[in-house]
Amino acid sequence: MRLDKLLSNMGFGSRKEVKLLLKSKAVEVNGVFAKDVSMHVDTNADQIVVYGEEVIYTEFIYLMMNKPPGFISATEDKHDETVIDLLDPLDQHFKPFPVGRLDKDTEGLLILTNDGHLSHQLLSPKKHVPKLYFAKIEGRVTEEDIRKFKEGVTLEDGYFTKPGTLTILSSGEESEIELTIMEGKFHQVKRMFQAVGKRVTYLKRMKMGTLTLDEHLALGEYRPLTSTELLALKQKE
Ligand code: URA
Repeated sequence: MRLDKLLSNMGFGSRKEVKLLLKSKAVEVNGVFAKDVSMHVDTNADQIVVYGEEVIYTEFIYLMMNKPPGFISATEDKHDETVIDLLDPLDQHFKPFPVGRLDKDTEGLLILTNDGHLSHQLLSPKKHVPKLYFAKIEGRVTEEDIRKFKEGVTLEDGYFTKPGTLTILSSGEESEIELTIMEGKFHQVKRMFQAVGKRVTYLKRMKMGTLTLDEHLALGEYRPLTSTELLALKQKE
């Protein structure tokens, strides 16, 4: 790969800016100051150092975010801020996108990546990737609801859902529940409760496939996936 392309991909600016970097003797390849932006480097074999720090070339980025309410799960939006606006410019440079959508008011686990293949594997209806949600529900959630969700419920547009596993954590004027579903229709959790005459007042995704939301992440914070987390996600493909 050309040196200027590599450095530009890694967030060191436009090709023009990379040229200036080389001019100012900021870039070394295998211990020698690089002069020619068009030189070819082998990302596996050559050592590339910028301002004294080695650059490890990566093509893909994999992030876990605790999505805050009020942000849209998209790369851009005409009216609202998106989850991409919460990322550091160095991470934005990789052009990540959210894997699936959480509603504007939904919180919790959101994977952001530029790996289209992994995204497809996680979202494909054929893969049956389980998603676990925590929710607060207006009113009393009952054993009858558990039974209905287990069988599948009919949404207002006539769609009959796949079985969902509903666990009641507390039940009263407001109930707290966990629900695992294998599909990801638009507003699915809210619409499933609507189908049994109830309203979701708070929704947070806790798990997606093998990945669990890191409880140390405050709302709006994110971190890269660990190699163990990434491997587990990919093994499920
Ligand atoms: N189901 C919903 O209703 N909303 C979400 O954001 C995710 C699942």
